[in-house]
This record gives sequence, C-alpha cells and structure tokens, in this order.
Amino acid sequence: MSTEPKDVSVDARPKRQQTAKNIAGRKGGTPVVCLTAYITPMAARLDKHCDLLLVGDSVGMVLYGLESTLAVDLETMIRHGRAVCRGAKQALVVIDMPFGSYEESKEQAFRNAARVLSETGAGAVKLEGGVEMAETVRFLTHRGIPVLGHVGLMPQSVNTNGGYGARGRSVDEWQPIIDDAKAIAEAGAFSVVLEGVAEPLARKVTAEVAVPVIGIGASNACDGQILVTEDMLGLFAINPKFVKRFAEIGHDIEEAIGAYAREVRSRAFPGEEHTYKMRGANS
Ligand code: KIV
Repeated sequence: MSTEPKDVSVDARPKRQQTAKNIAGRKGGTPVVCLTAYITPMAARLDKHCDLLLVGDSVGMVLYGLESTLAVDLETMIRHGRAVCRGAKQALVVIDMPFGSYEESKEQAFRNAARVLSETGAGAVKLEGGVEMAETVRFLTHRGIPVLGHVGLMPQSVNTNGGYGARGRSVDEWQPIIDDAKAIAEAGAFSVVLEGVAEPLARKVTAEVAVPVIGIGASNACDGQILVTEDMLGLFAINPKFVKRFAEIGHDIEEAIGAYAREVRSRAFPGEEHTYKMRGANS
C-alpha cells in the first residue's frame, strides 16, 4: 500500500509565477537561479529565492544512497515531484526523466513525460542528451511539454562516456558538445543545462546557443547556475571542485545530535518545560 497522501489537487494549485517561457526570455539577462529539491519543506524554503527548482534524478544518490542515478525509476521521480510541487509557490518546477524512461522512442518519451506533468503539477521535464535526442525534444515541445535539455557531462551515460571528469579541457572535445547544445535548443528546449565543462567552452556554448544555458561546474560564463542543494549546504563529505559550500549543515546536524544524545543519557532532556503536568497543576 502506498504511504503517500492522496493528491487529487494538481489542477487546483495556483499557477506559479515562473514558467518555461519566462525562463527562456532570460537569455543574457540577470542570471537564472536554480537548485535541486526533493521534498516539500526544502522546496518551500528554496522557493522564494529560486527561479527554477529541479527534482533531479540525483535524488537517488542524495536521498537513497545509490552509487549513480541509473537505478532511479519514474515512480520515484513522480513521488518526489509531487512533494516539491506542494512546497513551491512561485518557482518553475522541472522534473528529471530518469534513465530508461525516454530514450527508446519519442512516443515512449511523450507517454512518460505526460505522466510526469499531469501527475505532479510540474511545469517542465529535463532529459539528458544532445543531437541524438533532438527529434524527441521536438516531438515533446510540439505537443505541450516544455523541455530543459542537459548536455556536457551526462551522468546517465556514465557507463559509455567514461566517468564524471570535466569535459572540453582540450579543444578537440568541443565541437560535439557545441553541436549537442545547439541541436537541443533548435529542437525547442526552453533552456539547456551544461554540466562539467571547461570555462572557455562554457563561454562559447553560452554565446552560440539561443536559449539560457544553466551551468553546473561550467563557470560563471553561463546564463544561470544550478547546484545540488545538499552539496552546497555541506551535507556530504565529498566536495567536488565546482561546489561552493554556503553552509555546513552536516556539521551542525552532528553537533545537534551529539548534544541530544548527551542530554538523554544525563537525563537533562526532557526538562520541566517539555513535560506534561496533570490538569489543574501550575502550567
Ligand atoms: O539530477 C540532478 O540533480 C541534475 C543537476 C545536478 C543538473 O541533473
């Protein structure tokens, strides 16, 4: 039995201020602020600061302890997508299409992307791939599904593309990545995520692609930035070069849990103020 609350209110939610069309119009303007979110309370906190919240398939690694994003399924993305849509009032919510849910054919991609949008209330989907996915992106966007592209380092292709190292650090690697970004933009994507590439390549892609390029590990030359929220909050020990830690929440959690454990063991917690008295007794 599902533990998730029944959610029949997708159509009843207020329209969010940010749309795929708005974001598309941000090319070359104030950088687009994006972060990942997987749960309602985090989405509610990020919402007022962000233009776009991505329910990334990184959820598999961040929340479920998986080694890669490959085992994440569509049901998981829909469940977390709904949770984020409950918390987001104004940011555009974009949901990642997981590995295996869109590559087989454009019809498969449409069927699954339509489920994602209709069952969550999100405003767009993201899918990885360049030239080879352009036809699918065109098929989706012509049928009412806004698409955020994802090129450069593509984690779903880790087994065929040789790991998580940065791309484009020698000029002979550039052209396929430029071609990928252009193909996806020309096919109708409202924006493209560019992951893990050297700065001069990011600058060139951003200059040559007509829609906003959202960078992750792709320098400040891009039209916007995205990070995995748990990375930038310091919840993980691993700290890739491109992540700036804006907080040390992992350390703060350990301090708090240590204090709790000490107080439970010494009976300092719960104190008088946390303790119910009999009716009629003072307080
Ligand atoms: O899954 C994810 O979180 C992503 C971003 C890091 C771009 O694809």
